[in-house]
Amino acid sequence: SEYVLPFFVFPSCYQSCRKVKIFAPDIEQRDVVNHLKGSPTEEKRNVLVESARLARGNIQDLAELKASEFDAVIFPGGFGVAKNLCSWAVDGKNCTVNEHVNSTLQAFHSAKKPIGLCCISPVLAAKVFPGCEVTVGQDKNIDGRFPDAETASAIAELGCKHICKNVNESHVDNVNKIVTTCAFMCKAPLHEIFDGIGTMVQEVLKLA
Ligand SMILES: *[C@@H]1O[C@H](CO)[C@@H](O)[C@H](O)[C@H]1NC(C)=O
Ligand SMILES: *[C@@H]1O[C@H](CO)[C@@H](O)[C@H](O)[C@H]1NC(C)=O
Ligand SMILES: *[C@@H]1O[C@H](CO)[C@@H](O)[C@H](O)[C@H]1NC(C)=O
Repeated sequence: SEYVLPFFVFPSCYQSCRKVKIFAPDIEQRDVVNHLKGSPTEEKRNVLVESARLARGNIQDLAELKASEFDAVIFPGGFGVAKNLCSWAVDGKNCTVNEHVNSTLQAFHSAKKPIGLCCISPVLAAKVFPGCEVTVGQDKNIDGRFPDAETASAIAELGCKHICKNVNESHVDNVNKIVTTCAFMCKAPLHEIFDGIGTMVQEVLKLA
């Protein structure tokens, strides 16, 4: 059995997966951020090349992904999802979704294969599958832990059901086989984020 993880692989998955392949779209990044300064630079970079750095070269163009060869797909998330896989960072619920991201989601969904998403990437499911259930954490900025809580209402405006969850939990939409966890949408200690992502991966594998 094979599992697809665009961008990078989570350690918790190594325990249970036999084969993982990593994919990313061959497109230019919306911007390049100098994380030391926290501001964008003039540099141009390619998403597939940058993802290859994380994957240590073992990566393919997302356009080449065939859902028929895999049991599940996981989108790890990160703000790059909102900038490069779709335009959520700029357009919110009016965003466009990269055509290969969309076709990948459609292919796994129509084959009734599970889809896992974390951090901001649940908005991809909300945009592509109106009516689905996802979590990006809480819909209120409880204790300052959820500064992007309004994402939950944008998801609801897309006709989806936002389910409030702790950072260490995930939500399973059994009808759509979509598993989500909020990860870095919550300002939480890394181990709590790790636990949440771990439950997401485990639930995806159960559905596969
Ligand atoms: C989305 O589009 C609607 C209608 O054009 C507009 O009123 C709204 O401000 C847009 N939202 C965002 C977040 O761009
Ligand atoms: C995804 O692709 C389908 C089929 O081509 C299209 O109807 C739909 O509008 C696309 N969705 C998004 C969010 O781009
Ligand atoms: C998740 O975190 C909450 C709050 O810290 C805690 O009460 C709960 O036991 C944790 N759940 C799991 C499954 O670890």
